[in-house]
Amino acid sequence: MLTSNSLKIVDNELLIGNVSTSELAKNFKTPLYVFDEEGIRKNCRAYVNSIKENYDGNGLVAYASKAFSCFAIYQIAKEEGLGIDVVSGGELYTAHRINFPMDKVFFHGNNKTKEELELAVKYRVGTIVVDNLTELKMLIRLIEKANKNGEKIKQRIMLRIKPGVDAHTHNFIRTGQIDSKFGFAVETNEATEAVNEALKYDCLDLVGIHCHIGSQIFDCNPFVVTAEIMMNFIADHPKANLRELNLGGGFGIKYKSDDKPIEYDQYMKKIATKIKEVAHERNIPCPKIIIEPGRSIIGSEGITLYTVGSKKVIPNVRTYIAVDGGMGDNPRYALYGAEYEFLCANKAGEPKTETVTIAGRYCESGDLLGENVKLQNVEPGDILAVLSTGAYNYSMASNYNRIPRPAVVLVNNGTVKEIIERETYEDIISKDVIL
Ligand SMILES: Cc1ncc(COP(=O)(O)O)c(C=O)c1O
Repeated sequence: MLTSNSLKIVDNELLIGNVSTSELAKNFKTPLYVFDEEGIRKNCRAYVNSIKENYDGNGLVAYASKAFSCFAIYQIAKEEGLGIDVVSGGELYTAHRINFPMDKVFFHGNNKTKEELELAVKYRVGTIVVDNLTELKMLIRLIEKANKNGEKIKQRIMLRIKPGVDAHTHNFIRTGQIDSKFGFAVETNEATEAVNEALKYDCLDLVGIHCHIGSQIFDCNPFVVTAEIMMNFIADHPKANLRELNLGGGFGIKYKSDDKPIEYDQYMKKIATKIKEVAHERNIPCPKIIIEPGRSIIGSEGITLYTVGSKKVIPNVRTYIAVDGGMGDNPRYALYGAEYEFLCANKAGEPKTETVTIAGRYCESGDLLGENVKLQNVEPGDILAVLSTGAYNYSMASNYNRIPRPAVVLVNNGTVKEIIERETYEDIISKDVIL
C-alpha cells in the first residue's frame, strides 16, 4: 500500500515525485529522508482553501513546525501564505534567520525560558501562547523593562486552555479535569483567573484562546466538541473581547492501510458550522480561526530510504533485516510502537512474501523500526523504504552512538534539491572540548 499520491511504482521501482529512489540512494547515500514538495504544497493549499470555502477566509493555517523544522519548510510555508507555530528558541531562531514574517508566528511551550521569551519579544513574535501564570509574570516583566527603555511593545498573547477533551486515542473522552502539563483548566476556574490577570496589563493584548487536544485523530467529533467548549468560554468572558480562536492541530494521516484520514474540507465544514451556531446562540461575533496542522502537512510527503545490511534468519523465531539507520533517525517505534508501511524500493512491484522484523544499527535491542511486517524478499544491498516518515522523524533524530544524522532532499516532479546536508564526524566532535 502506498500512503501518498507522491509515490508510484514504475518498472518494479518506487518513485517519489517522479524521481527514482534507487538513484536517490546512490547519489545521496543512505539513510536518506526524501520529501515531495508538490505534495507538501498541495496539503498547505487544501487547508488554506478549506478556511476560504467554509469560513470566508477568516482564519490562518499555522504549520506546526515541530513536525519538521528547517529553512526550506519555512520558505514553503511562507510562500503558501501560512503562519507557523514554534515551540522553542531553536525553531524560532531558524524561522527568524530565513525571514519568516514574525507577525505570523505563534510561540508555544509549557516551560519557555526567560531567554526564549526575551528572544520572542526581541524578534517581535506575533503571538505568544501563554501556558501558565509564572510565564505570564515573566513576560510582563520583560516587556515592561523593554518599554521603560523606550520600546512601545503591546504583545499579542493567547492563553492555552485545557478544554477537558482528551483525544489521544481513536476514541475520545470528555473528562472533568484532564491530566495534562499544558495550559489552564476551564473546570478549576484557572482559565478565568488567567484571563482576568492578563487583562490588567496594558502591555498585553489578549487576543484569544488556544487549545490542542491530541494527535493522529481520525474523528471530527472531538474537534467539534472542543470548538463548542472554546466558543462558550469566549462567550462567558465578554469583557475580555476574545476575538481569535486557535484550535491546534492533530489531524490524522495514513501510516497503515486501515488509517482513514478526515478530508480537511470535512473537518473545516463541521468546525465552522459549530462555531457559527454557538456565535449565533450566544450572540457574539465569529472569531478568527487559527489551526495548526503539522503531521498532516508533512507526514505522508516524506519517506526514509535505508540500505539493507545483514539478514539474520533465526529458525522458528524470526527473521531480522538490519538497516543502516534506526532509532537515531526514527525513534517513534522504540518510543511508542508507531507502525509504518515498509517496501523494498528496488523490488517494489514484487509481492510481499516474507514476514520480518526491521532492526536498526544502534546499540540497543529495542532499536527496531517494525516487527512482523510484510516485505518483499530482500537481500543485503537492497534499498528499504519506510513510508510516511515526514513528521516527527528528522525533528526527533539524535546522534546516539555518535552516528551522524542523515541528509534531507526535496524532490519535485523529477527535480532534486538537498535541503539539509548529511552530518559528518567533524560535526559530531565540533562541540567537544579537549582536556
Ligand atoms: C500546540 C500544538 N499545535 C499543533 C500540533 C501539531 O499536531 P499534529 O502534528 O498532530 O498536527 C501540536 C503537536 O503536538 C501541538 O502541541
